[in-house]
Amino acid sequence: MEPSPDTGSADPAGYYRPDPRYRQEAWLKDYSAAYESFLADREAFWEGVAGELDWYARWDAVCKWDYPNARWFVGAKANITVNCLDRHLAGGRADKTALLWRGEGGEERRFTYRELATAVNRFANGLKSLGVQKGDRICIYMPLVPEQIVAMLACARIGAVHSVVFGGFGSAALGTRIRDADATLVITADIGLRRGKVIPLKEIVDEALQSAPGVERTIVLRRADPPMSLSPREVDFGSLMEAGGADCPPEVMDAEDPLFILYTSGTTGAPKGIVHTCGGYMVGTYYTAKTVFDIKDRDLLWCTADPGWITGHSYVVYGPLAAGASVLITETTPDYPDPGAWWKIVQDCGVTIFYTAPTAIRMFMRFGEKWPEQYDLGSLRILGSVGEPLNPEAFEWYYHVIGGGCCPIVDTWWQTETGMIMITTMIGEPMRPGYAGRPIPGVEAAVVDREGRPVPPGKSGFLVITGPWPAMLRTVYRNDERYREYWHTIPDCYTTGDLAVQEEDGYIMVLGRGDDLIIVSGHNIGTAEVESALVAHEAVAEAAAIGKPDPIRGNTVKAFVILIEGQTPDERLTRDLQALVRRMVSPVAVPSEIEYVDALPKTRSGKIVRRVLKARELGIDPGDISTLEV
Ligand code: PRX
Repeated sequence: MEPSPDTGSADPAGYYRPDPRYRQEAWLKDYSAAYESFLADREAFWEGVAGELDWYARWDAVCKWDYPNARWFVGAKANITVNCLDRHLAGGRADKTALLWRGEGGEERRFTYRELATAVNRFANGLKSLGVQKGDRICIYMPLVPEQIVAMLACARIGAVHSVVFGGFGSAALGTRIRDADATLVITADIGLRRGKVIPLKEIVDEALQSAPGVERTIVLRRADPPMSLSPREVDFGSLMEAGGADCPPEVMDAEDPLFILYTSGTTGAPKGIVHTCGGYMVGTYYTAKTVFDIKDRDLLWCTADPGWITGHSYVVYGPLAAGASVLITETTPDYPDPGAWWKIVQDCGVTIFYTAPTAIRMFMRFGEKWPEQYDLGSLRILGSVGEPLNPEAFEWYYHVIGGGCCPIVDTWWQTETGMIMITTMIGEPMRPGYAGRPIPGVEAAVVDREGRPVPPGKSGFLVITGPWPAMLRTVYRNDERYREYWHTIPDCYTTGDLAVQEEDGYIMVLGRGDDLIIVSGHNIGTAEVESALVAHEAVAEAAAIGKPDPIRGNTVKAFVILIEGQTPDERLTRDLQALVRRMVSPVAVPSEIEYVDALPKTRSGKIVRRVLKARELGIDPGDISTLEV
């Protein structure tokens, strides 16, 4: 699509207005009308979406809401893989690319929908031959290769509950997750490849299994040459595929049967096994993949998340495949062999929808425009962001440098628990940098105080969801008490744990986690607000803010800052940064200390873990940091 002249800059009110053709061509053309139709009849709205999918048996009721427990599509029967695979074979997409994989060396593997379906059926039969049954928990600990997705879908095919653990986690984190889920089987690979280095995944599994005696078998995808030898309790992935027949009838699942468990990344405390179910999750991810990314048959979607995270579950695997998209996956890291690696993939493969995290965008900003400039990014038509607030400077850079000033950006707010995108700016709607947008049709969100009373526009409060939605978590595995906490912290609301501001126009700015709140002289300061101000400075690449106890002010703000390559810290810069925070946030938010660092502790999904910075600062134990990049 050629850009129209008015899309490259914001209007006087600060909104970017996308080319009107986006709206004309979008699946969801009129946000307000869609939202009103949802409010007029919530159940009819979701029933309409569900009706686009294939079911064995229809529902007796769309939703039974017995606060805080919801059941969706009550009595309905389906299998999500039928909608992700079989439906497309029958519907003319058999020879369409379902998955395109790129390795670190640029090698490619392509699976049509027919080929992917065959692989899934074969592996599902293989799992059955090992005695795997509906309801069994299967841990998948694999690199980002097509077999990871085949394994997930094969579990879903036969009704086994997968628990995917990100292949970057160490043995202790893996062991905890295997034990908590009571998994009986682990699917892994001999090695993962990251930045030209070999990660010995199978060794990590072996170590984890020492503390997880319930696991009977390990299936190993062998990639290394010569192939590693296997013990009698270990099974070769490839042989299992070959032995399995190419037709595995899908298990007829109740809409409320569990589909998977996914452990939250655990920025605080012990990991929680978030449980998602077959019917509602299918409907929610299908709808959001189709409408938020506006997936058309010509699109190639690249969501850069690993399927080991919820973003990968929902927008690499289930949502896009249910919507019949072509999906790109890659094992490559963004800066290997050089910081142009990802832009080369966009150019070579013709990616049209690109979905990544602000932390990656800020990293690219730091490397400079010279990298994306070397590539033709003209195939891109929609950009997405997820995982953290997309600060205005990162928005602008993403919009202009990557999107060429004409691609809408969908800044999508959601969580492992929500399963699907909840708040964003739908394609065609005006975009407001710094604001994720409004609740999507089908979702009711609000910003409230501790008692659940709405706070006035422009004031910060707790971001809550005020009613059930199909892809919501149903429980925390073996810990329903922790599930109920989500709904009982603030009366009648699902508490997201995030702080936010909603403006008169309904747009929501997410400020960050509530537990990352700093109270200075009685004022609530979101760490994200301070950080956003700091990264607005041209010398700053990344920033983290923490509160330090202070006898007079309660807390003072301390900031940790990573500078853009080539910049050096000095007192003048510190003063400039303080002035910037004073101007952009408030005088009480000004960091009394700024420390320049080379790295910040992050979760593997890229979230800064402020509690570690704080613990270090105060000289106390940072708790379990085994799953962090520190
Ligand atoms: O704090 C919010 C932040 O990420 C949290 C959810 O993390 P997780 O369960 O790991 O899922 C991440 C991917 C869906 C939220 O509570 N978050 C996510 N998206 C955004 C965001 N913060 C601001 N803007 C977003 N778009």
